Amino acid sequence: MEPIVKVRNVEKAYRKRKSKEMIQAVNSISFDVYKGEIVGLLGPNGAGKTTTIKMICGLLKPDSGSISINSIDTDSHRLKALTHISAVLEGNRNLYWRLSVRENMEYFAGNRGISRKEVAPLINDLLDKFHLKSKEHELVNRLSRGMQQKLAIAVAMLAESDVILLDEPTLGLDVETGYEVRTILKNIVKEYNRTIIISSHDMDVIQDICERTIIINHGSIVTDDRVENLLKLFEVRSYTVSLGGLLSSMQQQLLTQKFPNHTYVSDSYQSTLEIDLLKSEEIYDLFDILKLQATPVESIDRQTVNFEQIFMKIVKGEKTHEVAQSS
Ligand SMILES: Nc1ncnc2c1ncn2[C@@H]1O[C@H](COP(=O)(O)OP(=O)(O)OP(=O)(O)O)[C@@H](O)[C@H]1O
Ligand SMILES: [Mg+2]
Repeated sequence: MEPIVKVRNVEKAYRKRKSKEMIQAVNSISFDVYKGEIVGLLGPNGAGKTTTIKMICGLLKPDSGSISINSIDTDSHRLKALTHISAVLEGNRNLYWRLSVRENMEYFAGNRGISRKEVAPLINDLLDKFHLKSKEHELVNRLSRGMQQKLAIAVAMLAESDVILLDEPTLGLDVETGYEVRTILKNIVKEYNRTIIISSHDMDVIQDICERTIIINHGSIVTDDRVENLLKLFEVRSYTVSLGGLLSSMQQQLLTQKFPNHTYVSDSYQSTLEIDLLKSEEIYDLFDILKLQATPVESIDRQTVNFEQIFMKIVKGEKTHEVAQSS
């Protein structure tokens, strides 16, 4: 199956303000997105997410590499490729502030050649799903930020484009509205059968909505895998060991040498170790250290790692090699 979005060796550098120095914002990125997929572009601030999204939707031209949508090259056939894409960019609400909610929807549908009559049932459905029905005649500049964001996404859905790009869709929203947007997105994506790329620096958002995540850092892809695989990969290796005694200073020293990132917490009678094993055999090294003082082991639990911890580990560069091998 041909991917619907194909990104190949794309690079983009910006010139620093008032300087000749260049910043490599995106550094030879390649990935594919297939029809119906919901892919997360996850990375810390400055990773290159917005730059990547802007290149996919034709707002920025890559310095090198190529992007195609439905096999149409976005450079040589820009307008044709762009008819397959809608984007909601961060900070740019893409809406007419002096038109009402419904008027905005009718206007953008009209722009794509859909008649007002034809689009009415779809608009009604989207107003319902986005909980904007009671605001349909309100002017956009009187809406809260969350409502504007919901409307911007609804307008993107309306265009019937195959691919929808959402740059930080929950950024700046209060917790409740953030959840609401997440829930709407999850529901609507299935029903409307679109291909969606969502960028976020918030792993919760990505874990909640996306099936696959591409993690980028410093303009490069660090990993590209299904969210469930990333969780599995790390889950088997993080352990909490409860000990019925304390570790001697020699044991602690050995632990630090062998497992530099472990944490050791103790009170008067017992202690707990949290440890990440790079290979499962390393558990024997741990036992060797415990055996030195016959430290009683009360329980060993595999930790449930959350996506946030995984993200931090990957972004910090730990285990990157292994992640790359596993995918
Ligand atoms: N117009 C610009 N001029 C100069 N540098 C830029 C410009 N836009 C982005 N950059 C730089 O390029 C890098 C990538 O920026 P980008 O906005 O793509 O990151 P991001 O992952 O979207 O970050 P954030 O999470 O903060 O939105 C950053 O170092 C940023 O400072
Ligand atoms: Mg950004």
